[in-house]
Amino acid sequence: MSEDPGTPPAGAAKDWTIPQRWESYTPEDHATWDRLFERQAQLLPGRVTPLFLQGLDILRLSKPGIPDFEELSERLMKATGWQVVAVPGLVPDSVFFDHLANRRFVAGNFIRRPDQLDYLQEPDVFHDVFGHVPLLTQPVFADYMQAYGQGGQRAAAAGTIAKLARLYWYTVEFGLVRSGDALQLYGAGIVSSYGESQFALDDPSPHRIRFDLKRVMQTRYRIDDYQQSYFVIDSFEDLLDQTLNTDFGPIYAELADAADIETDAVLPSDHLYTRGTQAYAQGKRSA
Ligand code: PHE
Ligand code: FE
Repeated sequence: MSEDPGTPPAGAAKDWTIPQRWESYTPEDHATWDRLFERQAQLLPGRVTPLFLQGLDILRLSKPGIPDFEELSERLMKATGWQVVAVPGLVPDSVFFDHLANRRFVAGNFIRRPDQLDYLQEPDVFHDVFGHVPLLTQPVFADYMQAYGQGGQRAAAAGTIAKLARLYWYTVEFGLVRSGDALQLYGAGIVSSYGESQFALDDPSPHRIRFDLKRVMQTRYRIDDYQQSYFVIDSFEDLLDQTLNTDFGPIYAELADAADIETDAVLPSDHLYTRGTQAYAQGKRSA
């Protein structure tokens, strides 16, 4: 919630960007990308929204090796006017919002070590690029992300970033979308994870609840393990309609004193697609 973004690290520009330095990736780095890509490419068809797979094609991401951001940005620019820029790691909120509001997606330029294929604390280039960039080729999602950046600037001024961040978490990172009677993945945190792209759809443990803006803004989330609840949008058009075309000012005011909702709670007002057993989370707790 800092208004002051602080000073960028040495070697970074004022907007915290750095050169990607594509030439300095080692053969091992590229091999790590290829292994991660191969696993997800096997797993995702039939599970992920087809818009994501279209995005992979448009960006020609099936080409081996870590993508060169300049090349990627050229294709993305043609599709929706977005670019991908490199940053050293997580950046301050205000810097992040400013990039999004200007159609720049910030991506870490480092890749995880070979022994970290399944778990990583900080987002690396595989999560950021494979997970986030394909949907940015789709106009409705591209508009949503830009609007989120603008909304972030308003939320920062209003002191309500925590509420808005939950929206990002339960849509951009861990969202599911309905397709007829089936559910499909679209959140970047899910689609870049081998384990969670199975868990989020197939496991009996988590709740799967119809997306509701105020409900989501009140709901805590987990940063240390698979989510205990996923929220399901009807469509990207509907998500855009409930966010871009809605003034959050009155909603922030209404929710100012509302209690947080726990990660595993079910409310009478929830529309449930699946009531989870929560067995996975409970197993961990007693282990
Ligand atoms: N309409 C939101 C506001 O009034 C901005 C926003 C748009 C936030 C889209 C998130 C996604 O602040
Ligand atoms: Fe992410």
